[in-house]
Amino acid sequence: MPQSFHPPQRTLLGPGPSDVSPRVLEAMARPTIGHLDPLFVDMMDEVKSMLQYAFRTQNALTLPVSAPGSAGMETAFVNLVEPGDTVIVCQNGVFGGRMKENVERCGATPVMVEDEWGKPVDPDKLEDALKAHPEARTVAFVQAETSTGAESDTRALVEIAHRNDCLAIVDAVTALGGTPIEVDAWGIDAVYSGSQKCLSCTPGLSPVSFSDAAVERIRNRTHKVQSWFLDLNLVMGYWGKGAKRAYHHTAPINALYGLHESLVMLQEEGIENAWARHQRNHAALRDGLEAMGLSFLVASEYRLPQLNAVRVPEGVDEAAVRNALLDDYSIEIGAGLGPLAGQIWRIGLMGHASNMRNVYMLLAAMENILAGQGYALERGAALSAAQKVYAAGDEDLKAAANG
Ligand SMILES: Cc1ncc(COP(=O)(O)O)c(C=O)c1O
Repeated sequence: MPQSFHPPQRTLLGPGPSDVSPRVLEAMARPTIGHLDPLFVDMMDEVKSMLQYAFRTQNALTLPVSAPGSAGMETAFVNLVEPGDTVIVCQNGVFGGRMKENVERCGATPVMVEDEWGKPVDPDKLEDALKAHPEARTVAFVQAETSTGAESDTRALVEIAHRNDCLAIVDAVTALGGTPIEVDAWGIDAVYSGSQKCLSCTPGLSPVSFSDAAVERIRNRTHKVQSWFLDLNLVMGYWGKGAKRAYHHTAPINALYGLHESLVMLQEEGIENAWARHQRNHAALRDGLEAMGLSFLVASEYRLPQLNAVRVPEGVDEAAVRNALLDDYSIEIGAGLGPLAGQIWRIGLMGHASNMRNVYMLLAAMENILAGQGYALERGAALSAAQKVYAAGDEDLKAAANG
């Protein structure tokens, strides 16, 4: 006879999902009501306006797609790309590769701009690709590459796209809530994220936002969007403001309660404070790891605070460290992907999980495990280095970051 499933209490410090706030879990356990119930519709409107706050946009077409980040990615591509189009796809990790797949499946031609994994997208290479392909209508890239922990300069890349008459699609799955992203000020045309990273919510929802220029392109398409479910012309009828809501699909009611709660928490904290918290905890983790003699894959100026790619030192068994963290401390961290498999650990400090307690806990556990493997380190140095960061406070952190 199958039994109820009771997962253990883990601390999720990998590339996502990250720890979910108990407030979010409690909100999700509230009574399910109908998805066209006037009270639920009011809540949907609040979710939309809180997503506008998180994305820093006035875009009317801002909503959570009822599926994970990959569906947000697909929503952007199937709506903006038509068969026969040329799309410039920048790749500096795993997720640019998925964008290429999306472009091909839309019947369009991807032109790849490749950068080394661990480096940001090179704006000059994008500029060259656009010069070589004046027929391109769209540029796509990932702001926060979860596979490497590198951040690309979204503002600069969008500006280049626009100067070359292209719309810009930006992947903000790991970026949103953890690091600045300014949809309106930077002129992003299509952006998608995920609920399970820096928003402290459960996986399964993908906030998206589309500019007026993107909406105009969608309205003027010559081919029907090949996905019925993700066709924004239809989804708009369900999520549109003021208009009478038309049934499109049954919204994941309780999941949306969870997202609503996580966005309430983001507003309570203030998004700038959330960015500063991610930066502070990253700095403490970084100094602690460096005090153990560990180093980072990504150069400091391109490093994401919410995803730390740490090199596995010579002689240390990468998988054994991860397994010991999980088995002995119930802490999850991530492995390297593709060419970085076996070479890095990916330590996430995302959303609710980005806190001082987790930084100290991880440093102490890593120190014990590495020492147990015979790796030479000075006991206690990591915690003391982290403690110095917390003692210094944010003003000193800002001054140090600004040189
Ligand atoms: C940068 C990036 N894009 C897209 C995705 C896909 O999101 P999901 O796994 O929620 O479908 C992820 C997931 O980790 C991601 O990190």
